[in-house]
Amino acid sequence: MKKFFIYLTIITPLLFICPTINCQDKNNFIRPGQVWPDNEGKHINAHGGGILFYNGTYYWFGEYRLLRSEKDKSRYGVSCYSSKDLLKWKNEGLALRVISDSATLLQPGCIIERPKVIYNKKTGKFVMWFHHELKGQDYKAALTGVAVSDNITGPYKYIHSLRPNAGVWPQNYPDEYKKAKEGDASLRTGSAEWKTAVIEGLLVRRDLAGGQMARDMTLFVDKNGKAYHIHSSEENMTLHFSELTDDYLDFTGKYFRVLPGGSNEAPAIFFNKGKYFMFTSGTTGWNPNPARLSVSGKLTGDWKLIGNPCRGTEDENKITFGSQSTFILNIQGKKSAFIFMGDKWNPDNLSDSRHIWLPVEWEKGNPVIRWYRNWDLRKLQ
Ligand code: DGJ
Repeated sequence: MKKFFIYLTIITPLLFICPTINCQDKNNFIRPGQVWPDNEGKHINAHGGGILFYNGTYYWFGEYRLLRSEKDKSRYGVSCYSSKDLLKWKNEGLALRVISDSATLLQPGCIIERPKVIYNKKTGKFVMWFHHELKGQDYKAALTGVAVSDNITGPYKYIHSLRPNAGVWPQNYPDEYKKAKEGDASLRTGSAEWKTAVIEGLLVRRDLAGGQMARDMTLFVDKNGKAYHIHSSEENMTLHFSELTDDYLDFTGKYFRVLPGGSNEAPAIFFNKGKYFMFTSGTTGWNPNPARLSVSGKLTGDWKLIGNPCRGTEDENKITFGSQSTFILNIQGKKSAFIFMGDKWNPDNLSDSRHIWLPVEWEKGNPVIRWYRNWDLRKLQ
């Protein structure tokens, strides 16, 4: 009887109050790794993406994915979602669509990955770049594609795809790396000798005429308005920071090799208090690996690898909490508040890959990330 009384007077009211509290909490909480429903109740299908803040709204662009088992790699294109608060997202539809015409490179069945959009103040246009692979060629082509629109949500008009910087040497490239070396042709890919030769320009020389490879990519607009296309090049061994023209639609031909031979993918860059920080991953396909943090005082300067920015258990750190970086988002109006955005890939159903967003925290002046099952956006002040 006493138990029943306790239940009736204490537990029953809690049962009513708690869901309300939870429910209110739910509205402010980021829940990494869970299904994130959009305004139509569907999991947000924007993977390997990035966010652009424009006119009071965040716009999230990403890969619109299907089941991997379906033959066509990209049957749709790049999706766009909008939000005022980073919590409730409206599906704005496809910003860039593949074109059903076998004469175009952007035909269904090609691969579109890691799209990013930036705004050009001079032209008033929105510019999208994305990693582009050709239909039926797996990841061989290593191209980057560009599209442009007058409206942020699109439709974006596809311009073309290319390998950047054909015919020009990197800016930070010693003269002795320009000449082919004896034995170059007989090096076994992946061997220690090959890796040394790659650091000394083997693949830059190989790709000089046709342009440098461009796979995983991001865009970064520096304080002076200059934009850079940052991409894994040289068979994913070295990052290239390639300057874009003033309209952001092409390459100037000025580019820099960063962390040569470091095998970095998934670059995500941000600037805080006089320093540039870059999150990258190693190269293990869809499988997560330990994240890497690099820092530099100059965007195109000497980047220094700091180590793994994850602060979890040993097992969590080995796989970046199951994710791979895609973008670092600065919260509008809060200069030093950033969100690490990553993808927890599900290669058997890429559309169900989950979003891992974690608050960027600081430790001795360097960014670190910790796992939170859920976290309040207001934590980022
Ligand atoms: C790792 C890259 O970061 C992804 O974007 C994707 O290209 C996979 N590799 C494919 O295996």
